[in-house]
Amino acid sequence: MKVAVLGAGIMGNGIAQLAVMAGDEAVAYDVARPQLDRAGAAVGTSLARFVRSGKRTQEQADADRARLTFTTDLAEAVAGADVVIEAAPEILDLKQDLWRQVVQHAPAEALLGTNTSQLSITSIAAALGDDAHRLVGVHFFNPPVMMRLVEVIAGLQTDPAQVDRAKAFGEHVGKQVVVCRKDSPGFITSRAYAILRLECVRMLEEGVATAEDIDTALKLGFNFPMGPLELGDMNGIDTYVHAISGLEQAHGDRFRPTVGLRNMVAAGRLGRKSGAGFYDYDEEGARRV
Ligand SMILES: NC(=O)c1ccc[n+]([C@@H]2O[C@H](COP(=O)([O-])OP(=O)(O)OC[C@H]3O[C@@H](n4cnc5c(N)ncnc54)[C@H](O)[C@@H]3O)[C@@H](O)[C@H]2O)c1
Repeated sequence: MKVAVLGAGIMGNGIAQLAVMAGDEAVAYDVARPQLDRAGAAVGTSLARFVRSGKRTQEQADADRARLTFTTDLAEAVAGADVVIEAAPEILDLKQDLWRQVVQHAPAEALLGTNTSQLSITSIAAALGDDAHRLVGVHFFNPPVMMRLVEVIAGLQTDPAQVDRAKAFGEHVGKQVVVCRKDSPGFITSRAYAILRLECVRMLEEGVATAEDIDTALKLGFNFPMGPLELGDMNGIDTYVHAISGLEQAHGDRFRPTVGLRNMVAAGRLGRKSGAGFYDYDEEGARRV
């Protein structure tokens, strides 16, 4: 099977790696050549880790790496593809433009999946006219090679057969698949987690507990590997505010960012990447006590 992955960033390179580890030929496409170089290096590092931990032999890892190619030519990437997964930036116009080009070059029977975290599948597919029924949401989690879940999302016009094919593809690359049967912004996971983190932010702003104690409570009380606030710092406060603002538009006031969150963004307290967020960080990115 040939899998084309569009956008070779954090998610794209992981999805391409999953495909080759499942025995497929994968081609990663990106508009930026340096991103392809970085993706190649990241996949190499990750495969080496699999070998060190004994989960893969060196021969298997070498064969995986040999099945992965890179290109800046979209037509070449999707020609003859059985599956096309798009992991380009979370910008509606950009994704629509990309998909319009894809359907000109990809085989008519190729499975078309978008890895959007929360954009409406229906609105991305709206750019595809008669091909709108082919697009389905195939939402992997970060990092794709480690996380066990894939969320499949049906757009309003998605052909149910494509939902079944997306499920089969997720299982083929070793994931447990859940289906979001209605195209609802935030799907199941992003929607539930966004509101959980927002409640943690509200508790912090009300002085109910410290950031450390809120994160510790959620980690030890519910077996979360990371607390919602520390994970927020890792992903970026600006990214989070952008995401919940989109969910507020779709689902109403309960997703409205707090004044404190907006102030953090205005002040450049964006989390780990800016040296301060819910926590403070030193130059090496370690959290200050
Ligand atoms: N990062 C996460 O935790 C995460 C988790 C699940 C889903 N997602 C979703 O996956 C998608 C990609 O996210 P990411 O974190 O990998 O982003 P990223 O910024 O790491 O990577 C995006 C890549 O797309 C490339 N790109 C830009 N314009 C392009 C175009 N027109 N055609 C093809 N490639 C283009 C960029 O050069 C970059 O390499 C987004 O829709 C995001 O919402 C992200």
